[in-house]
Amino acid sequence: MKHHGETFSLANGVAIPCLGFGTWQMKEGPETVAAIQKALELGYRHIDTAAYYQNERSVGQAVRASGLPREAVFVTSKVWNTERGYESTLRAFDRTMEKLGLDYLDLYLIHWPAAANRFDNWEDINGQTWRAMTELYQQGRVRAIGVSNFLPHHLEPLLKTLPAVNQVECNPGCQQKQTLAYCRDHGILVEAWSPLGSGRVLENATLQALGKQYGKSAAQICLRWCLEQGVLPLPKSVTPQRIQENTAIFDFALPPEDMARIAALPPFGGSGHDPDQIAF
Ligand code: A2P
Repeated sequence: MKHHGETFSLANGVAIPCLGFGTWQMKEGPETVAAIQKALELGYRHIDTAAYYQNERSVGQAVRASGLPREAVFVTSKVWNTERGYESTLRAFDRTMEKLGLDYLDLYLIHWPAAANRFDNWEDINGQTWRAMTELYQQGRVRAIGVSNFLPHHLEPLLKTLPAVNQVECNPGCQQKQTLAYCRDHGILVEAWSPLGSGRVLENATLQALGKQYGKSAAQICLRWCLEQGVLPLPKSVTPQRIQENTAIFDFALPPEDMARIAALPPFGGSGHDPDQIAF
């Protein structure tokens, strides 16, 4: 069972705290700084941001103000879709680091693959972006590199220099069984964005019933469901009580029969974003 403060190990040996704090939809400003500071106070040691979220300055500010040594906090950011390619990825990384105000990054991800329906040369574009990422890694400016929203056919061409991480939408309503199996087989750690289905999946009767059974909320069931599969959840919240609730997932386990009940659920509550069809 994973305990609070425990880590997953990335393919290159880097340790990554097994619960992360998601910051999507939290815009630059005092509310975001306060929420991240609260999360750090409550023991989160892993903050997930992206250039696209427009909150990197606030993330950096909160990390610096926490009084924690830099190496005690794991920070992830991502290169946005308009910056794909070798040169622009390198420039985007510099901008991200300037905004964060940090000396190094822990994990840098390609936010979305170039979509096959928009780009005939999607594979080449992803390859150029990935070449910049591997260079940043070799220079020691980032401790691990990976991708987000990549399906097996997007991952395949990158396997020569293995992505350490694939961050995908993943919750009981959008289980990503094929991508999870592929990543497990290749030693790629999966991180879950929207592990609570952005709140959409929390009314599900099975999750509610399991919550009752364990004296937990449906949200905590979703997060524990991730951990049981070796998936690293990144719940987002600006509400102190929820930020805390989302850390109380280390004092119970979901046995195989409960995991099977969730596995048997038909898809519900996904965002509908297909990485091969996205229009952004
Ligand atoms: P808020 O930020 O207002 O607290 P996800 O991480 O899946 O994208 O879900 C984030 C959404 O779920 C946010 O709207 C957040 O609201 C809400 N949320 C976060 N934690 C909980 C929780 N423990 N119970 C219910 N809703 C939650």
